Amino acid sequence: MSKVRVGVAGYGVIGLRLADGVALQGDMELVGVADVAPTLSVRALREKGMPYAFYTAAPEKHADLDAVGIPISGTLEDLVKNVDVMLDATSAGVGAKNKELYAKYGVKGIFQGGEKNSVADVFFHGYANYEKGLGVQFLKLTSCNTTGLIRAVDCLDRAVGVEKVAITIIRRVADPGDYHRGLTNALQIDKAPSHQALDLMTIMPHVEATGILVHTPVTHGHIITVVATPKKSVSPESVCELLSAHPRIRMVSIDEGFLGNASLFRYARDLGNPRGDMYEIAAWRDSVVMSGKDVMFAINIPQESVVIPENMDAVRACMRMQEGRIEATDLTNKYLGIGKWRIFY
Ligand SMILES: NC(=O)c1ccc[n+]([C@@H]2O[C@H](COP(=O)([O-])OP(=O)(O)OC[C@H]3O[C@@H](n4cnc5c(N)ncnc54)[C@H](O)[C@@H]3O)[C@@H](O)[C@H]2O)c1
Repeated sequence: MSKVRVGVAGYGVIGLRLADGVALQGDMELVGVADVAPTLSVRALREKGMPYAFYTAAPEKHADLDAVGIPISGTLEDLVKNVDVMLDATSAGVGAKNKELYAKYGVKGIFQGGEKNSVADVFFHGYANYEKGLGVQFLKLTSCNTTGLIRAVDCLDRAVGVEKVAITIIRRVADPGDYHRGLTNALQIDKAPSHQALDLMTIMPHVEATGILVHTPVTHGHIITVVATPKKSVSPESVCELLSAHPRIRMVSIDEGFLGNASLFRYARDLGNPRGDMYEIAAWRDSVVMSGKDVMFAINIPQESVVIPENMDAVRACMRMQEGRIEATDLTNKYLGIGKWRIFY
């Protein structure tokens, strides 16, 4: 008996695993996989030496694939023409559109959990209702949770009968490597230089600045490490003195218990500051180190509240309420209660 020819549409989390699975079946032939773009999975396929033929589902964008050297064996339609069955693991909702193509060429279509149930003739599980899928043109698989759940419940049901089940699903929020659900156990890097460095140069054109920004999955403040090349020689002590003299910089230390951004957020709450706000930035005394004549240190940025004082200053400036920066910022600080902590430090 000749092998059943299978194609995979959507070479993502599920699709690439489907392709590997089909390739391992002795009685099936993986004709190829299709996707729309040179995603990381598609690039990895190329780097692995194209074990599977690749078809484009977006022929109008083939230049994007050409640009990174992905060999294209044809279009999704070409693939469909050459298979008996398509495993569709495209992004949820796309399968319903692809179904028209499968219907046009009379091939079977198997859809994943993200599609609506109406896409298929039978909602299918290999153990629970295999027979219902026999000869049917369009099947839809259950989602990951449902697939596993049904395995277990079906197993018991067949042995002892099951009257009812109540379930609690503790669901992972995203797959490893996902960014579209927000940052989950992942860091994301921006293109350098960071806009903060460029903005600094706009305001202070005499200082050359550059930088890299890495997004982290936290909400209680940013931390910036600064490497500054001073024009006059400095020591860690003199830098601490200079920073601590600034009205809107609070010097803190790890030894006091300020272990990071969350310590400062908690401290602001303990102070009774509304919403845990802090107008000052904090600089870690014990982060100040020299690198040759450069000095390096770390500061904490309470992102929700740090710009408030400077906004007040801006009002003062644009309204010419005060003519000088010290007079203006001192007034802002006074009204906002900035610097109350100084009696203790
Ligand atoms: N991720 C999981 O844990 C999981 C588990 C079970 C079921 N599912 C279901 O599997 C399906 C796929 O999910 P996923 O997590 O693999 O998604 P994914 O985003 O990782 O992969 C989808 C792929 O489809 C491609 N694609 C988009 N439009 C296309 C088109 N018109 N033609 C061909 N390819 C196209 C995308 O570029 C992407 O590579 C969804 O229905 C989802 O609900 C996902």
